[in-house]
Amino acid sequence: MAGQILTVVELTADNVEDVLAVAPSSEQLRHVNPVAWYVARSAYQQVWHPVGLATADGEVVGFAEWAYDDSDGTYNLGGIVIDHRHQGRGLGRAALDALVAHLRGRPVPGDIALTVHADNERARGLYERYGFTATGEVMEGELVMVLGRS
Ligand SMILES: CC(C)(COP(=O)(O)OP(=O)(O)OC[C@H]1O[C@@H](n2cnc3c(N)ncnc32)[C@H](O)[C@@H]1OP(=O)(O)O)[C@@H](O)C(=O)NCCC(=O)NCCS
Repeated sequence: MAGQILTVVELTADNVEDVLAVAPSSEQLRHVNPVAWYVARSAYQQVWHPVGLATADGEVVGFAEWAYDDSDGTYNLGGIVIDHRHQGRGLGRAALDALVAHLRGRPVPGDIALTVHADNERARGLYERYGFTATGEVMEGELVMVLGRS
């Protein structure tokens, strides 16, 4: 489905409960942690930045986190989840549009990478069709993919 637009939103006192309500299906929890896991980790390890993904009318329908690795100048994306009640409508692709624009708008330029389980066909297919390419590396059991520059 084309034409879906999402916006990256920072977590605030007002939206944090909506962000924490974003959930994959129980079957998908073998591919990602619960959103609360990422949010809690970010509070104690100042590495990953958690963000919400909101529709034009402000509804939070997704979650992701990003981190900048200054050892190789790469932005890493992780924990990408579209709430299971909203999946299959093109929001996964819209989430990538929003996240890539968000990272490319940061003052320090860098490549964009993520990791995905080899058997997560839905996510892997989405990333491949979007332009991510497997580097051949495997990190903690997941395939490393990098977004080619257009
Ligand atoms: C992966 C995820 C973010 C994609 O979100 P989504 O709302 O399903 O995404 P879309 O509707 O944009 O669909 C993405 C693609 O998957 C395809 N697709 C839809 N349902 C599918 C299914 N059951 N199996 C395989 N592909 C499927 C769509 O045709 C679409 O193809 P396109 O890239 O050519 O447009 C979402 O499924 C999710 O949150 N999964 C659980 C968490 C997860 O695994 N995250 C990734 C961690 S690396």
